[in-house]
Amino acid sequence: MKVLVVGGAGYIGSHTCVDLLNNRFEIVVVDNFSNSKPEVIDKIKQITGKDFNFYEVDACNQEALEEVFKKEKIDGAIHFAGYKAVGESVEKPLMYYHNNLLSALVLCELLDKYNCRKIVFSSSATVYGVPERLPLTEDCRLSTTNPYGTTKLMIEKILEDLYKSNNDWGICILRYFNPIGAHSSGLIGEDPNGIPNNLMPYIVKVANKELPELGVFGNDYDTKDGTGVRDYIHVCDLAHGHLLALNKLAKENGLNYYNLGTGHGYSVLEMVETFKRVNNVDVPYKIKERRAGDIAECYADATKALNELGFKTEYSLEDMCASAWNYVVKNK
Ligand code: UD1
Repeated sequence: MKVLVVGGAGYIGSHTCVDLLNNRFEIVVVDNFSNSKPEVIDKIKQITGKDFNFYEVDACNQEALEEVFKKEKIDGAIHFAGYKAVGESVEKPLMYYHNNLLSALVLCELLDKYNCRKIVFSSSATVYGVPERLPLTEDCRLSTTNPYGTTKLMIEKILEDLYKSNNDWGICILRYFNPIGAHSSGLIGEDPNGIPNNLMPYIVKVANKELPELGVFGNDYDTKDGTGVRDYIHVCDLAHGHLLALNKLAKENGLNYYNLGTGHGYSVLEMVETFKRVNNVDVPYKIKERRAGDIAECYADATKALNELGFKTEYSLEDMCASAWNYVVKNK
């Protein structure tokens, strides 16, 4: 199967490319490097020892993306290309709606035109808004609290309508929980621009003394230690979920939703303590106010992905923390 990976140089995209190449998939990668670096393409080749075609194309540019479809005989696509910073989406909603929606529309139109109606879409647990119940199952109530989340939910709806209009489509919507960690080679990992918003990249920068201390956003939640609880998943486990989704789409058409998480919730303080212990580094922190829009707890019921895709996570929280640090140490 020849898979078009749109946004393949990004954090989750690059790890997925490695997993696909290591499992004898053919890939064609497209990225505009808006939130990634060109070196990543060579690193993917270095890790896997495999070659593939890369095109520097903005997925919103229909003509440019169509050139790729004309040159390559594509069987289906994974759509990773999207802006993902919640705060920025509140400040620049038009930029988020434009980029995230248009890239999805353009890609679907081309998959339709070139008769390769298979798509794996990167959604997010953010579509569950304030969880109706825990653990979250795929049929829980959906709602969003920021433009980023709304783009994910809108694209889910577009894909749903597309499938209703033509059952020849094979669609897997993957709702990611909190991906962290990096490939064991230390060659690819998470590299956010500027001051990170998310917990693990922030911890890493504090451990590396690039930032003085971590602010823990609230210790008065109704959770095990009062700090926020999330379902952190190793990015390599998450990446493998895409391969399993493609395997399903190779066999049958359909519209499928899957939670990709471990099913375990860890608190902010558990994350900090595990990171310190595993890597033998200091991570000073201070308790701060709650962050607006945060929820107390969020973790997956990933039984559907297990039963229908065979999705099982392999990496522990210790592995996630060790690999995130290894990436920084190797790239100092
Ligand atoms: C956030 C987004 C979510 C998005 C995901 C992408 C919000 C409200 N949600 O999820 O929509 O899909 O990133 O990965 O932004 N924390 C601190 N200090 C920090 C950073 C985070 O204490 O400096 C805490 C948070 O309060 C939370 C936990 O760490 O309890 C995880 O936060 P984060 O990594 O930002 O992920 P989410 O908020 O779950």
